[in-house]
Amino acid sequence: MAADSAYVVAIDGPSGSGKGSLAMKIATRLGFHLLDSGAIYRLLALKSLQQGVDLDQQQAVLEVLDDFNIRFEVGEELSAAFLDDIDVTDELRREETGDAASRVARHAAVREALLGLQRGFFKAPGLVADGRDMGTVVFPDAQFKFFLYASIEIRAERRYKQLISMGLSANIAELLTDIAERDERDQNRSASPLIPAEDALVVDSSLLDSSQVVELVLGHMKDSI
Ligand code: DC
Repeated sequence: MAADSAYVVAIDGPSGSGKGSLAMKIATRLGFHLLDSGAIYRLLALKSLQQGVDLDQQQAVLEVLDDFNIRFEVGEELSAAFLDDIDVTDELRREETGDAASRVARHAAVREALLGLQRGFFKAPGLVADGRDMGTVVFPDAQFKFFLYASIEIRAERRYKQLISMGLSANIAELLTDIAERDERDQNRSASPLIPAEDALVVDSSLLDSSQVVELVLGHMKDSI
């Protein structure tokens, strides 16, 4: 199948909605490629921090992209990310990195500059693209669009368990505040804000476990794929 007739499954939603693990499982089940666009913003944030760049200065962040050498190794359960050939997977998952990513992601010119890189992940037989603007901006023609939602309390609890299982420290009250701040920034920025595409299926995962969400999403696609 030619790449231009391949499928794109766009999965958007706020942090902690479970879209990352959903995207990975759907990609594995369908044998599709995977784009974790949040990881790209996280890598850019990490590199900007390493260079002492002010994350609120669009031009300075844009210049970091002049020498932006990133790579992913995708497995069935885990995906590793490399910055300048160094494995930074653990650093990438930290709350501080997510917060920094949300700051660099506010700049319209930075988002524009990252479009080509993100679209380059689109290859036959298909791509599962995980992010905030996959269905609205990066892949507006995606055949399947899902917007995964969960209450802020559930998202904070999931994030807490995830951090603890990674051996990191975590505090529910701080996580609630961080997630609320990040939601506010991601939803209210002028460039590609976090909103469901008009043609997206909105899935509330608050009361579903991850395998129920996977089956719901695959069930929705099964007659068309
Ligand atoms: O999905 P994530 O938590 O890894 O994303 C980290 C930050 O990157 C998120 O707070 C907002 C930004 N982001 C974005 O603006 N657009 C995307 N497509 C993906 C992430």
